[in-house]
Amino acid sequence: MKPDSVNEESIQVPETLLIVDDEAGIRRLLDRRLSREGYQCWEANTAEQALEILSATAIDLVILDVKLPGKSGIEVLPEIKTGYPDTAVIMGTVLSEMSVAVQCLKQGADDYICKPFDLDEVSLGVRRALERRSLQLQLKEYQHHLEKKVEEQTCDIRRLFLGAIESLVFALEAKDKYTGGHSRRVADMALALGSELGLSGDEMEDLRCGSLLHDIGKIAVDQRIHSKIGRLTHDEYEHIMIHAHVGARIVEPVVNDRVVEMIEHHHDHYDGSGISQVVRGGDIPLAARILAVADAFDAMTSDRPYRSAMSVKEAANEIKRCAGTHFDPVVVSAFLKTITAGVRPTRNRSVLGGVDDSHACEYGDLNGGARND
Ligand SMILES: [Fe+2]
Repeated sequence: MKPDSVNEESIQVPETLLIVDDEAGIRRLLDRRLSREGYQCWEANTAEQALEILSATAIDLVILDVKLPGKSGIEVLPEIKTGYPDTAVIMGTVLSEMSVAVQCLKQGADDYICKPFDLDEVSLGVRRALERRSLQLQLKEYQHHLEKKVEEQTCDIRRLFLGAIESLVFALEAKDKYTGGHSRRVADMALALGSELGLSGDEMEDLRCGSLLHDIGKIAVDQRIHSKIGRLTHDEYEHIMIHAHVGARIVEPVVNDRVVEMIEHHHDHYDGSGISQVVRGGDIPLAARILAVADAFDAMTSDRPYRSAMSVKEAANEIKRCAGTHFDPVVVSAFLKTITAGVRPTRNRSVLGGVDDSHACEYGDLNGGARND
């Protein structure tokens, strides 16, 4: 259709009318009068012909006779209103059939004019219907513009908020010389694994976002426990693990559910043996299973206050050993391929001047005296 009839550029374009009536005399009469008033007119003598013209031409308004041979005006009206919602329709009906006119209005007709036609009345009816149509189009366009604007601003606010959270993560990491650059390296590795596993563009974006924000919940962790040298007690380990849940709650208002779940479950063990774990195996979101491997790899290959970093080979062997228990075997297999291909997260991209070669967490389990927080 021709929704642009409301903007300035199209003001010069004549409005288009389709006169549908089986009586040639009436069509000609209306055509002559309305053409003189500057409208561009088409004529059809059946409903079928009217539909043909509508499918090929942008029509602003249809004058539709109720009684037509074959398909009647009442029958074709819903088809026109559904197929061409921006086209106004005025029904032509005889005065004695007011109930028909009312029925047409209920079915979406914009107005009706009575036969025999009074040309001034027709002219006025057409003008009124076109003006109403023009206002409706303007309103529609305004609403569309408004929705787009709101959507853009929501995106901007979300981006700003996410940026602030991300900065907070980096600041927290930079404050501790053992955690600088951790989230970025984890994101790099997680994306390499996601790519190896054939994740879609949207899934990769979620993975990137969740990886960068996964440790934001550490803001709620007692710093003395977080930096403790040596084995953690069960209670201390449990306390540190609240960061997954807290982190999920922090980012919940600004990220989608997939990212929230990824953060919530990033310390789940594949075999279900993790702290307060409620799902296991394939029920753990894939992104969380990927993040778990990437996170552990960075933890193991980073220095600790109480131990030196493992080599890549040692870390890879440890992750391989834990396939099926701590980690998803499919993700581990992708990880081993990635490592074999020589992919390594860059370790010299620390932000805010933080030291970029360490991590405050240690991978392992309580029995082994180690931890993965
Ligand atoms: Fe974590």
